[in-house]
Amino acid sequence: MTDTPGENPMTCPVCSAPATPPKCGTCGRPALAPFEGTDLLVLDGVRHTYGSGPGEVHALREVDMRVRRGEITLIVGPSGGGKTTALLVMGLLLKPTAGQVRLAGQSMEDASESERTRARLLQLGFVFQQFNLIKSLTARENVMVPMRYAGVSKKHAGERASEVLTALGLGHRVDHRPADLSGGEKQRVAVARALALGPQVVLADEPTANLDSVAGQRVVEKLAELASANGTSVVIVTHDTRLAPIADRLLRLEDGALVEQDVSAFAGGHP
Ligand SMILES: Nc1ncnc2c1ncn2[C@@H]1O[C@H](COP(=O)(O)OP(=O)(O)O)[C@@H](O)[C@H]1O
Ligand SMILES: [Mg+2]
Repeated sequence: MTDTPGENPMTCPVCSAPATPPKCGTCGRPALAPFEGTDLLVLDGVRHTYGSGPGEVHALREVDMRVRRGEITLIVGPSGGGKTTALLVMGLLLKPTAGQVRLAGQSMEDASESERTRARLLQLGFVFQQFNLIKSLTARENVMVPMRYAGVSKKHAGERASEVLTALGLGHRVDHRPADLSGGEKQRVAVARALALGPQVVLADEPTANLDSVAGQRVVEKLAELASANGTSVVIVTHDTRLAPIADRLLRLEDGALVEQDVSAFAGGHP
């Protein structure tokens, strides 16, 4: 290839064809200008207070955090410590009371609601405790939903959904509906849906809380493995310290403040 610098097409995360902004000419996925930095998601002096007056709750007090490319970050801490609030802020689902959120170098402070929605769709992936699958749709169709919403053709969305589900060990379940899947399988469908569009960061809130420990461990290991292979970062908030062995970084959020912990201190006692 003899492309001039700056005009190199990137590889489309959905169909693997060369793609140049504004969108992939093959499958239709919007193509974003590449971000070359390593800090994909940055929180600077983030504070969040719920309510006001005597009932106010300081859920986040002064949180600084950097999510680096390809890194798996685990945020642990007690119930009520601010984990969900932190994840909602990172996921652009909640505007903090104070402080800055930067996604792929872009400040989100002045972003419009439609810009935030677009960033959530194309740059972030979400996995929740309750799976949040659509009951009437098959596993493949559930994974296709955000891709179709992003403008990916039906054919390419279907192919990509099957590919990601197969990578998660669900190749034999693509036509099953949620009612016919185990908890671990449902969560793997949710992981496939979060990864399908090729996000920069996947955010997971207590992803193992509704699973037994073996199923939970497997789901999170698989998420970490597929994400790292693509340079996707993962942030998991949980009170389950058994997940620590898969993490590159371990942070503790307690009473709205974040403290870095030594991963190896937790990794020792696990098979
Ligand atoms: N919508 C809300 N309104 C008022 N207080 C809230 C709201 N959401 C969370 N809180 C409070 O903020 C604190 C942090 O909650 P949360 O972020 O859910 O913690 P965690 O996920 O670690 O359990 C808790 O004291 C909680 O009661
Ligand atoms: Mg929570």
